[in-house]
Amino acid sequence: MTNDLEVLLAKADAELQTLQTEEELLSLRTKYLGRKGQLTALLRNIAVIPKERRADFGKRSNEIKDILSDRIDVALKEARNRKRSNDLLRQRIDVTLPGRRVHYGRLHPVTQMRREISAIFSRLGFTVVEGPEVELDYYNFEALNIPADHPARDMQATFYIEDGIVLRTHTSPVQVRKMEKMRPPVKIISPGRVYRHDSDVSHTPMFHQIEGLLVDRGVTFADLKGVLTYFFKEVFGSETVLRFRPSFFPFTEPSAEVDIRCMLCGGCGCRVCGQSGWIEVLGSGMVDPAVFKYVDYDPEEVSGFAFGLGIDRIALLKYGISDLRLLFENDQRFLEQF
Ligand code: DAH
Repeated sequence: MTNDLEVLLAKADAELQTLQTEEELLSLRTKYLGRKGQLTALLRNIAVIPKERRADFGKRSNEIKDILSDRIDVALKEARNRKRSNDLLRQRIDVTLPGRRVHYGRLHPVTQMRREISAIFSRLGFTVVEGPEVELDYYNFEALNIPADHPARDMQATFYIEDGIVLRTHTSPVQVRKMEKMRPPVKIISPGRVYRHDSDVSHTPMFHQIEGLLVDRGVTFADLKGVLTYFFKEVFGSETVLRFRPSFFPFTEPSAEVDIRCMLCGGCGCRVCGQSGWIEVLGSGMVDPAVFKYVDYDPEEVSGFAFGLGIDRIALLKYGISDLRLLFENDQRFLEQF
């Protein structure tokens, strides 16, 4: 019987040599030393052993239990270490690799420009308001004194949504919408997107305008010139050169366009200014009495001026960008510069 114990130890030992993982070793322990294990089974037979040999048998079986238990413990420890260093090896981080660059978002140059322009007019007491981009023909044209079939409609290559509904071609319709809702004094600016089918180095089918309107008693053309001159000197500095050029808009009388000396070539002539040295940045004028009639203002009592300026054009000049289309291509390398 004592021999059985030695055989068991030898068998368990041999098996132990072949095992690698923690799971295998734990099940080996159960197989030999567990409550239903092989060593326990042998001990149950102690009754058939002659009395004088029982003490030896018991002693030896305890020894074998300890020996086996110790060996399994050692093997377990090794298995766990092995697993840990394998894991570490597999998950190794190469700290010498270059890190991934963090990309910071920025406000789009047009947004920066719009905010700057709005801030200047806010300081002058103008309120910022908005209007819809999908607009009724009535507000985009008719109430601005541009009746159907009027040749002035050709000035603005219109996208039609359906009969009577357009993508607004300018921000001027917001004038009418606001005057309908308020009595003078009115002092608003209205920034937003506008649409025309037009595309070249200085035109994109979608672009941005800011409309301005001031209506009160006794407003004159001198007020218009004063406000706009102040505005451009705020944006471009006190050295800025402007010129007011007589023009025509159906909704203003008299009308003037404002040109600014080209900042890119300093007036010598370049691609952006069409070799003229000047860039048209704004249309303006005294609100036509015909427009006041649509909103029930009395032209004998109040007068006003209005203007519409291209935000993108101003951004172009301010940041020295030579192609308007760059603003809308969303090339990160371009946008990151602002
Ligand atoms: N709406 C005109 C355009 O887009 C610009 C304009 C001209 C607006 C004169 C005005 C104005 O308010 O008085 O071409």
